[in-house]
Amino acid sequence: MGEVDPAFIQAQEHRPKPDFTRAEGIPLIDLSIISSPNSNLDNDQALGGLVEEIGDACKNWGFFQVINHGVPLAKRQNIEKASRIFFDQPLEEKRKVRRNEEKVLGYYDTEHTKNVRDWKEVFDLNVQDPTVVPASYKPDDEELTRWFNQWPEYPTDLREVCEEYAKEMEKLGYKLMELIALSLGLPKDRFHGFFEEQTSVVRLNHYPPCPVPDLALGVGRHKDAFVLTILAQDDVGGLQVKRKTDGEWLWVKPTPNAYIINVGDIIQVWSNDTYESVEHRAMVNSGRERFSIPCFLGPAHYTNVQPLEELINQQNPAKYKPYNWGKFLVTRKGSNFQKLDVENIQIHHFKIPGSELAEKLD
Ligand code: OGA
Ligand code: NI
Repeated sequence: MGEVDPAFIQAQEHRPKPDFTRAEGIPLIDLSIISSPNSNLDNDQALGGLVEEIGDACKNWGFFQVINHGVPLAKRQNIEKASRIFFDQPLEEKRKVRRNEEKVLGYYDTEHTKNVRDWKEVFDLNVQDPTVVPASYKPDDEELTRWFNQWPEYPTDLREVCEEYAKEMEKLGYKLMELIALSLGLPKDRFHGFFEEQTSVVRLNHYPPCPVPDLALGVGRHKDAFVLTILAQDDVGGLQVKRKTDGEWLWVKPTPNAYIINVGDIIQVWSNDTYESVEHRAMVNSGRERFSIPCFLGPAHYTNVQPLEELINQQNPAKYKPYNWGKFLVTRKGSNFQKLDVENIQIHHFKIPGSELAEKLD
């Protein structure tokens, strides 16, 4: 990335502090009771305890780590290896699968978060290939289009290992969505229908060593717009989560073979703010490059995202107006190709005025 472009420099208040907190971490949850092949979500006695743990973690942190999650280690190692080989190539090779306005998946190295450039390069792929989405962000345009994955020539197994990994992410994602449904007092399959056609994405992130790690971020503070994120981070570490109790940035210590799970904006809306999507960011360092692989679970494009009717009533009215997920996604994607002068589209734009007041009067 050469000498440091001012586009990477964070405003003073968003720069990482050298003495960041490593102490108390996000909850660590053991999924072994649902991962063993003969487990049965309906009868397991320990299930109640697990559901409660998940509910508490979603409510108090918006983030947790899972172990004994059932994703085979070899599948993770395969994608991690292929990712390393892909990013290790010269820029001109990677740019052959560069994303642009028509091909929105593939390689990209100029992403901005809140209008500051991220110190990273990414490779995005759809879990469902192709993925159907609206052709335009314009509300009245009903035309649809398909987003296709782009695959590089090298490494030759990238496609296969990514597709296999994506299947594992889907399986783990659905299990987690069942636990989250139960924790909200809903039937365990309450969310399944939203994913019949899905917009889920797997992203390979590469954060090269950075000469100014105190001024730049690998990815600036943000919330994830999708339903749920399942993140694999390597042993370098760098993810920081904003603690809900005091706004302190907590460093998430890498746990070998664990996945970091966070509630996305869509769960926040579905749960009518019972669970909130929490801000996070990634630090970089001058010595070691870092890799991470998030999977963002996304519902079908035609989903109108709104608080679930079972979770609202007169005392707890809906805090959000419905929004169309496909239009939201396409608006976001479009704005990724330029540095905007305005804030990106966000769920708070759909907040019903006065609902914060109702909250305070509760
Ligand atoms: C993201 C993200 C964190 C990380 O890609 O949305 O938050 O540790 N990544 O790479
Ligand atoms: Ni994120």
